[in-house]
Amino acid sequence: MDFRYKRIVFLTGAGISAESGVRTFRDSSGLWENHKVEEVASPSGFQKDPVLVWKFYSLRRLQAAEAKPNKAHATLANLLHDLEKSHSKATLITQNVDTLHERAYGALPDKNFLDIHGTLSRSRCTKCSKVYSDRWAYFDATGKSVDIHADDLWSNASLTCLLTTPKRNANGIPLSPCCTEQLRPDIVWFGERPQGVEKAVEELTRCDLFVAIGTSGNVQPASNFAAVARKAGAHTVCINLESPENAGAFHEHLLGTAGDKLPEFLKKI
Ligand code: OAD
Repeated sequence: MDFRYKRIVFLTGAGISAESGVRTFRDSSGLWENHKVEEVASPSGFQKDPVLVWKFYSLRRLQAAEAKPNKAHATLANLLHDLEKSHSKATLITQNVDTLHERAYGALPDKNFLDIHGTLSRSRCTKCSKVYSDRWAYFDATGKSVDIHADDLWSNASLTCLLTTPKRNANGIPLSPCCTEQLRPDIVWFGERPQGVEKAVEELTRCDLFVAIGTSGNVQPASNFAAVARKAGAHTVCINLESPENAGAFHEHLLGTAGDKLPEFLKKI
């Protein structure tokens, strides 16, 4: 199969997972499960109350394991498989931490997959930064310390996988096997640098098609990606429920759900 475009970059945001029942950031009116964002998603929040942060992310892991990839994830995953067999190259950049792209694809799209905000299926040592594949929920919905394997979350075969629950400190915080220091979710928190941005920009400046799906164009640096790709000569397309903040950076706007609009659009390429 051959494609009209030779280098394609897809950027996804919370909207692509909305049809899987994963709540979008903006839908929750700035509060995450009644917590202020800075309490549960910032380095200072973790320093102040790591138990609260692990309770929050344990629930996110359990909820992510229950969510299923939807039609848009599946369409994109099939396209990525097709593109691998063609002369075109695709890169998928996601802001989502919910693991649904990896699960729809059936493996990790490896070099061409950038989760710039991290993912729920990894943890990181707070001392040496070693990253682990980690699918444990350490607290249940009532806040009780537990060891629940959120089995459906995707695990990365290229990382050390925490197959048995790691040691915990007296408060129930998991400790890293490498340094016996606190583990933290490998999620990019507010005030932290997104991961893999240099690689993303490299792909953006070389692509001939850029497609943003389900992202409001509010959150940096991803909100700049369409402008970077357009400046480099790419055709830029936005698939979103409503017009995004960075609407001016797109040549084409397809307003509607990702599940409807993405398959329609892909027929054209
Ligand atoms: P936002 O919540 O800011 O925007 C989601 C966008 O998706 C909105 O513009 C919605 O209109 C649109 N949308 C909702 N349902 C849709 C559907 N079924 N099909 C298509 N579009 C739909 O999310 P992002 O732009 O991704 O991280 O925000 C970036 C990131 O900021 C988020 O991933 C969030 C935060 O860091 C986390 O939640 C972990």
